[in-house]
Amino acid sequence: NEIKIFSPATVANVACGFDVLGFCLDGIGDEMIVRKTDKKGIYITKIKGFDLPYETEKNVAGVSALALIEDAKPNCGFEIEICKNIKPGSGIGSSAASAAGSVFAINELLGKPYNQTQLTYFAMKGEAIASKCEHADNLAPAIFGGFTLVKSINPLEILQIPTPDALYATIIHPQIEVKTSEARAILPTEIPLQHAITQWANLGSLVHALHTNDYDLISRSLHDVVIEPYRSQLIPHFKEVKKAALGAGSLGCGISGSGPSIFNLSKGIETAKNVEVAIRNIYKNTAINFDTYVCKIN
Ligand code: HSE
Repeated sequence: NEIKIFSPATVANVACGFDVLGFCLDGIGDEMIVRKTDKKGIYITKIKGFDLPYETEKNVAGVSALALIEDAKPNCGFEIEICKNIKPGSGIGSSAASAAGSVFAINELLGKPYNQTQLTYFAMKGEAIASKCEHADNLAPAIFGGFTLVKSINPLEILQIPTPDALYATIIHPQIEVKTSEARAILPTEIPLQHAITQWANLGSLVHALHTNDYDLISRSLHDVVIEPYRSQLIPHFKEVKKAALGAGSLGCGISGSGPSIFNLSKGIETAKNVEVAIRNIYKNTAINFDTYVCKIN
């Protein structure tokens, strides 16, 4: 009647796949305990780590859980304890981890009536209160694992994309807060056709490269000509971080989700660690606090 789960951090967009591509960070994430209660409804009973709302309707884990029980109509309720390790507003899918975790756990306690796509659908309801718009590019990798492509959100269709064995992610999280809703508000509503052509050519070739283990093509595809020119202004030292990372052997460097975290992909853990050292050096001499992570994509 009780389950403890791990809900992973994720990187959305992956340079050229704004709102559609994402991947899951192995071993970085939140923990949640969910237990059945006789009293019907959803109750957030404990939140550790960060200051987040206890009211079910204001909490992303609560809202996604409500969407699920509204459909399932179970004969019980659920209490949710959240131990947040992913800082809200960090750009590595903090709200998605909460939204995905609660529905995943409740589904397990109910005997798995829903598949992963249905769980992503319920979780989107929670995620929407954080970013003020529905998107699933953090939720899908949190629920399916690995790389995912959200082919469509209405109807919801998610494709799983293979991860080359030697691919590692290096993340740096400068501790400034960038709200997803604000990072979306600064984006243009229209883009030049030439930029669109470059972007979809890169997204197509990145997906092909992931299928064919072509690290060189991954590297040549990790470019973002649509979103990065706007959002990189919100991230101090972004250009220097990118230059240092590429110099240390990163296959590609970009904004993680809506930032401020920056992600890199590398071939092999040694290179991923060299990239970590190089990008730490950029922030070391500034007043900005930061965390870094090196991990597999799983
Ligand atoms: N695709 C989303 C964005 C991810 O970049 O706004 C952040 O939640």
